[in-house]
Amino acid sequence: MPYAHYGADFRRGQGGINRPAFVAELTGSWLPAAPAVHARLSRAGARIADVGCGHGWSTIALARAYPAAEVIGYDVDEPSVAEARGHAAGTGVRFVHGDAVAVAGEGWFDAILVLEALHDMARPIDVLAACRKALVPDGTLIVVDEKVAPRFTAPGDVIERLMYGWSISHCLPAALAEQPSAALGTVLREDTVRELAAAAGFASVQVVPVDAGFFRVYRMEG
Ligand SMILES: C[S@@+](CC[C@H](N)C(=O)[O-])C[C@H]1O[C@@H](n2cnc3c(N)ncnc32)[C@H](O)[C@@H]1O
Repeated sequence: MPYAHYGADFRRGQGGINRPAFVAELTGSWLPAAPAVHARLSRAGARIADVGCGHGWSTIALARAYPAAEVIGYDVDEPSVAEARGHAAGTGVRFVHGDAVAVAGEGWFDAILVLEALHDMARPIDVLAACRKALVPDGTLIVVDEKVAPRFTAPGDVIERLMYGWSISHCLPAALAEQPSAALGTVLREDTVRELAAAAGFASVQVVPVDAGFFRVYRMEG
């Protein structure tokens, strides 16, 4: 079931559900909890990519928080990009419609963010490798994904149940619409994130020490 087939209600629901966290917490507490990254993005001329940006609320928040930086949002879903452009009208934020792997040709970026989108990607290792290629040598990839348990247990906790619900009704069918697919599903466990990062060539994966609610914030470097 391709992402586009879920239609405008899903797209807008997805944009709306994360908007409060992106507007308030992404730049208010999540990135400041990685002080070196936050400082780097505050510098004039910094470049930031928001990959799998959806409705663009995170991209717009980044541009507001780091006004001296160039911020570009990328997404493969054309209606999402069109709506993101509408939300950003007059802000100067740029959105590019296309597959995330194309970011490899758009470097150099000081930071790339993949916000609740890695588990939706059919080729997550290719995307992570493309991001790594597009980063400056000491740049950082920030991945925000679900704060699920370390391993499957039954019964699962509330977050596990919620995320499996999302997984079977949306994320997994959408990721399977493209073939071949890693078919990750929403329940992306920390060990899997580390395996994907290592396969893409990252030398280091750290969990940023911040309470991000349903999310875990990872930084990948090297
Ligand atoms: C769950 S949504 C998250 C959107 C946004 N980051 C948010 O949190 O609201 C996942 C997004 O990843 C995008 N996506 C999936 N695979 C992609 C790919 N290969 N390249 C670019 N975007 C992709 C989808 O189109 C969708 O907008």
